[in-house]
Amino acid sequence: MKGMDNKSVGAGDRPGQGGTGFSKKGFILAAIGSSVGLGNMWKFPYITGENGGAAFFLLFIICLVVVGLPILLAEMTIGRGGRSNASASLFNLTNKKHWKWFGLISIVTAFLIMSYYGVVAGWTMHYMIQSFSGALSDVNMDYAAAFLGFAGGYMPLFWSAVVMAITGFVIAKGVSSGIEKFNKILIPGFLILLLILMVRALTLPGAMEGAEFFLKPDFSKLNEESVLIALGHSFFSLSLGMGCMLTYGSYVQKDQSLGKASLAIAGGDLLYAFVAGLVIFPTVFAYGMEPSSGVGLAFIALPAAFAQMPLGFLFGGLFFLLLAIAALTSAVSILEVPVAYAMEQWKWSRKKTAIILASFAFLLGVPSALSVEGTSGPLSNLLIFGKTIFDLFDFSTSYILMPIGGLIITLFTGYAWKRAGEEAGLTGGIYRTWMFLLRYVCPLLIILIFLYSVGVLDFGTD
Ligand code: PHE
Repeated sequence: MKGMDNKSVGAGDRPGQGGTGFSKKGFILAAIGSSVGLGNMWKFPYITGENGGAAFFLLFIICLVVVGLPILLAEMTIGRGGRSNASASLFNLTNKKHWKWFGLISIVTAFLIMSYYGVVAGWTMHYMIQSFSGALSDVNMDYAAAFLGFAGGYMPLFWSAVVMAITGFVIAKGVSSGIEKFNKILIPGFLILLLILMVRALTLPGAMEGAEFFLKPDFSKLNEESVLIALGHSFFSLSLGMGCMLTYGSYVQKDQSLGKASLAIAGGDLLYAFVAGLVIFPTVFAYGMEPSSGVGLAFIALPAAFAQMPLGFLFGGLFFLLLAIAALTSAVSILEVPVAYAMEQWKWSRKKTAIILASFAFLLGVPSALSVEGTSGPLSNLLIFGKTIFDLFDFSTSYILMPIGGLIITLFTGYAWKRAGEEAGLTGGIYRTWMFLLRYVCPLLIILIFLYSVGVLDFGTD
């Protein structure tokens, strides 16, 4: 077990191991930076609109509290208690080898996610430059064709390289002067941009129709499927199940309250998702666009709407800047998971690890970048298990590996590690509730999400 002990090279990042780690405020901002990502900006608003608006919003809050919060707190607690990466921390706390291997799953998951997340993050940067330069201001342009042409070409490779370079650079600078600083500047800036765009969106003629689509409660649209969608999203949105919050947690000060931190992180995540919806739907509806989902919403419907808006190049540019920030602060947290591991396992320097892993993540992302469905990308016709490479990476990580990673965390904290309550600073009823959720409720719900995702569970409501 050499290389996983406290004397490893990477140990210099942690408080109590010769490093400074995160400041209290810095940790909250970095964790919010991780959780607020592309998921908040396009997925959450859309699934809310589709599943009964405010009714779904309430359901999502319940899922965040029942499943998201306990696992978030568990991950951070394991990181701080184990004082190491997402694999060695589990070993350090139990001295049992098999936990090290379970932990390794989340490190592989993070690396796989990083490869295609970098591609999408790259798209946002391209669209930001295009918007600011006025190239997206033509109302007669076919925005769907423009997006498919771009995503099917080789340009995304360039942008994904830019994303990996920025991410690698931030990580190479270290936890406190790299990751913390990056988030401290970008996250408050992000909120200001978001508020500017919200005021602009809500003052557009016809904006209320969009706000209504997003928020009008319609309980009749809620069904079993909405519950699982809300559950799955609470997981993804808080960056759980792939070692991210665990790794960040290992850089937290001993006297920081993890309970309060998890409330702040979940609250921040919810707030950003809510305001994002108040930007996106009023804008899309005011200009008569379809509120389609995912890629179509962000890269086709919104650019078409911004093109019709006075000063649309500016507001569109700011919107994509917002997306790029959301994506980059999440990307940093994702790549830090394998970086912390490789540094400690193989005793590499942080700089060397960051350069090597960012380069590998770029290479691994190349097949994804060239295989986006519906484009003429060179690999877009290659289907594996009926999916393009891009979709396969997305599906296998979000729906299979992340739930498995989450299950490992709940079982570890609920059954294997006996002193979690002490490290988390929880006692009495709160501790018992936390354990009850981790032992029984969360594992059961995660298994349900999993069965639903892989198609074993089908409610036939579609
Ligand atoms: N939470 C991010 C989002 O909402 C995505 C993410 C997942 C980030 C896993 C880090 C780890 O987009």
